[in-house]
Amino acid sequence: MAQKNSFSETLTAYLKEKGFVYGPEPEIYGGISGFYAYGPLGKRLKNNIEAVIRKHFNSQGFFEIEYPIIAPEIVWKASGHLEGFNDPVILTEDGKESYRADKLIEEMTGIQADHFNDGELLRAINEKNIKAPTGKKLAQKIGRHSLMMKTTIGTNIGAYNRPETATTTYLPFKNYMNFFRDKLPFGVFQIGKAFRNEISPRQHILRSREFTQAESQTFLFPEMKKNWEKFDGLKEEILPLWTEGLQKDGKGPEGMELSDAIEKKVLKNKAYAWHLAFSYKMFLEFGIPREKIRLRQHHGDEKAFYSDDTWDIEVSLRSFGWLEVCGISDRTNYDLGQHAKFSGQKLTARTPEGKEEIPHVIEIAFGVDRPLFAILDMAYDERQADEQRTLLRLPAWIAPVHVGIYPLVKKDGLAQKGEEIYNNLMKKFLCIYDESGSIGRRYSRQDAVGTPFGITIDYDTMKDNTITLRERDTMKQERVKISEIGEILEARINGQG
Ligand code: GLY
Repeated sequence: MAQKNSFSETLTAYLKEKGFVYGPEPEIYGGISGFYAYGPLGKRLKNNIEAVIRKHFNSQGFFEIEYPIIAPEIVWKASGHLEGFNDPVILTEDGKESYRADKLIEEMTGIQADHFNDGELLRAINEKNIKAPTGKKLAQKIGRHSLMMKTTIGTNIGAYNRPETATTTYLPFKNYMNFFRDKLPFGVFQIGKAFRNEISPRQHILRSREFTQAESQTFLFPEMKKNWEKFDGLKEEILPLWTEGLQKDGKGPEGMELSDAIEKKVLKNKAYAWHLAFSYKMFLEFGIPREKIRLRQHHGDEKAFYSDDTWDIEVSLRSFGWLEVCGISDRTNYDLGQHAKFSGQKLTARTPEGKEEIPHVIEIAFGVDRPLFAILDMAYDERQADEQRTLLRLPAWIAPVHVGIYPLVKKDGLAQKGEEIYNNLMKKFLCIYDESGSIGRRYSRQDAVGTPFGITIDYDTMKDNTITLRERDTMKQERVKISEIGEILEARINGQG
């Protein structure tokens, strides 16, 4: 349940103190909720997560593109966002406070209300006697609040900051056709900022007004959905599928092989199934354990206005319960059809049979901020007083610093040797050099920010060119030759050693 608890407060305060996430910003002016800054370690972590995302998409032949964040009003009229992208809002009786109605119900009762219509929202508010968090009575009316952030181009061109990267990825479709030599299927993705004017965002970077999305769009013909070549590569993958039926029966998700899910018609075609499994594997690559992930089918009345079928990837957090981190949608030919209509341009492609058709799109939509928060939520390990250390068990390949380098003392050439090793390893890994304080303090400073390895230079180093390699979680130490350290780290940081 999406209940705020003291763990979330501890965690977010910790992230601020250690240089991961600051805010709400601008903090020195009081801060506005929904705006956060990534500090030195947070930005590194975010870059490393984006590197995993890029690697994952590139490995399957997707190409990254970048599109302007701001687009004129007509784009958003065509996409349907101006009309349909809004949240239910409820005011207090005195009209002074406003709340997002479904989130208020969720926070106060634990009931998931994001698919309720206005009547159901009001009924739940009255039946459960829900008041504003300030104790004020709520008005008997659900209004609509647009999530679009308006701006002006030049002096008079009405425009909006994009609420999703997806729509802007569709706009150069004709140019993609040229690049991909008129052949479908092909996939493109964007990693970039999006904006949503949320009513009263809470839950830290999980619900920001400005955030980073990572969304891929696969353009294909409907016929191709049944015979998706890549499907065989993932057909044995077992997915924790939480179908609409299981949800209605009050049961949990069931592990199912991808090929069974097609045979039993739980997933409707191979192309969609492959995108779902491919996305699931990305979350495993972030280091999120299988048992903390479920794939939830959207209810019929919950799907976005452009979607024919959607499943969400959800992860279980210690701080905020189950959290949606990714949506995989079959957007059909809705978007290209709308943009063709509003632009007057032909946005078609030729099928293998020579027919001109508007292609369909399967979308993988997620952000960078939510997986980042989830990874930190799962990595945070506060030890009891007797162990005297707080750990961030970050996966090595995602950690903002891979290796700390520590000369035992500064004198007798140890510091010089340390700097030499540091300068060498810096070419391949993210390193820090620290010569201040006791060695124990230096270890714990880095344990606390998730640095997986430490290298200590001592008097034996000066004699035999070996160092001590220390591992963060086990605190195990081993003696390693300087000449071999690069190779050992490479294998362990990439999860093979
Ligand atoms: N592109 C889908 C979303 O932003 O939710």
